[in-house]
Amino acid sequence: MTYSVSHEEAQVEYVGGRRAAQWVNFFLSHLKPNFSVLDCGCGPGSITLDIAELVAPGLVIGIDVDEGQLKTALANAENRHIKNVSFEQGDAHALSFKENSFDAVLAHTILYHINGRLRTMREFHRVLKPGGVAGIADDDLRIAAFSPDLHCWHRLIDVWTQVVQHNGGNPFYSRHLRKLMLDAGFDKTAGFAVAAEQYGTLDQTRLYAKLVIDVMKSPRFVNLVTRQGWSSKAELSRIRRGLRAWGERPDAFYAVMYCAAIGWKRHKSPM
Ligand SMILES: C[S@@+](CC[C@H](N)C(=O)[O-])C[C@H]1O[C@@H](n2cnc3c(N)ncnc32)[C@H](O)[C@@H]1O
Repeated sequence: MTYSVSHEEAQVEYVGGRRAAQWVNFFLSHLKPNFSVLDCGCGPGSITLDIAELVAPGLVIGIDVDEGQLKTALANAENRHIKNVSFEQGDAHALSFKENSFDAVLAHTILYHINGRLRTMREFHRVLKPGGVAGIADDDLRIAAFSPDLHCWHRLIDVWTQVVQHNGGNPFYSRHLRKLMLDAGFDKTAGFAVAAEQYGTLDQTRLYAKLVIDVMKSPRFVNLVTRQGWSSKAELSRIRRGLRAWGERPDAFYAVMYCAAIGWKRHKSPM
């Protein structure tokens, strides 16, 4: 499994600017002070740290496969003087925690990128305490809206879809989150839509264009796409030029909907 997004500077800035109130509001109302929380695929940790503030003095553990992300997350915790958090390396497919370890588990924008989603969801269920709650969210690329209706956008979405699928992910799975959670053993679920990702001013469309262009320029992306014959270097360069120009337009707009779900692990039945 290869994570499709490289941790380029703009990417880290983009993910690192996420705040829990905007992105995972559907999950926050289920948290209480003193809760122990696992944030799986925590990245640079901005959401993890917001959650740590909410559940203090409960402990939040952020795990990620990428050491660089964990270092950034730790530095961010120090900058924000947040002590009830720890970060460690770990793989969502095989969590190193015992059964019944956490009151809550969050996995925000990670399952989209990885294979073995059912196995991973079973891991979340396993490490939750009875009555515990999991919150999951990912974008659904079929609910992406861009304007103007440019060819470069259509091609970007086609090529990106192939890259994510090749790497084991699925950019369309998240509308089925409730089923995935029920299949993994969760007792009860609820689904939500989140429209946190939107670009409708010059600063925002320029930033988003830069972000996508950086991802598209990374050697790993270019090599994979050209080797597989999904596009050519010449076309990738045309798409990048098109996106750069799109980002400067006064009428540019992009938004994508996130599908989210909460799932509860069954309470222990009374003896
Ligand atoms: C898009 S980022 C999301 C970061 C954070 N959850 C947020 O929303 O701000 C996805 C993160 O998942 C991590 N990741 C990818 N595959 C993983 C795996 N198998 N186990 C744990 N983390 C993983 C990546 O390294 C990356 O930091």
